[in-house]
Amino acid sequence: MMKIDLALPALPYIKSALTPIITEETFDYHYGKHHAAYVNNLAALVKDSPLATASVEDIIQVGFKENNAALFNNAAQHWNHSFFWNCLSPNGGKMPNGKIAELIHRDFGSFEKFKEQFSTTAVKLFGSGWAWLAQTDSGNLEILPMKDAHTPLTEGKTPILTLDVWEHAYYIDYRNARLKFVEGFWEIVNWDFANRNLK
Ligand SMILES: [Fe+2]
Repeated sequence: MMKIDLALPALPYIKSALTPIITEETFDYHYGKHHAAYVNNLAALVKDSPLATASVEDIIQVGFKENNAALFNNAAQHWNHSFFWNCLSPNGGKMPNGKIAELIHRDFGSFEKFKEQFSTTAVKLFGSGWAWLAQTDSGNLEILPMKDAHTPLTEGKTPILTLDVWEHAYYIDYRNARLKFVEGFWEIVNWDFANRNLK
């Protein structure tokens, strides 16, 4: 599983690479301001504490267990965004391949059924949050709607793919039309990354 450092990671492509589905201006705000703020907030929260040397993954679990909203939210939002940028690729889209294609077929019946269920989950999630594809301990794929900063990591599940459906993810490019953003996701989704995340 992907390990995230307590720093703003470099994007895996240039900021204009996903235009027009996600524009450079959205990256300037979503990555350059929102994600950067989570990193800066988290660094300030753990500074001079025993968590300063902990992994981001461990900080998420501590914040969750201790009901420390500021710690959990900033650590999880940093992790989720770092993971999310990798779920997208200018060479993505098309049909899933390899093991992920097999598991989607096994657990959802067909790629079309999976796509419809994931899209509906993303569109219907009320307020801010993330649509996740995760893998359980027993290896099954699940689609999970999760509010705010929540992540399958605190449920002991392995994140495979995610789609950010906070308004800040799409408002510049699509205004209130979340569905258009979700439709665009399928044209840039990184199946190679999904395959690498499988257990
Ligand atoms: Fe976001």
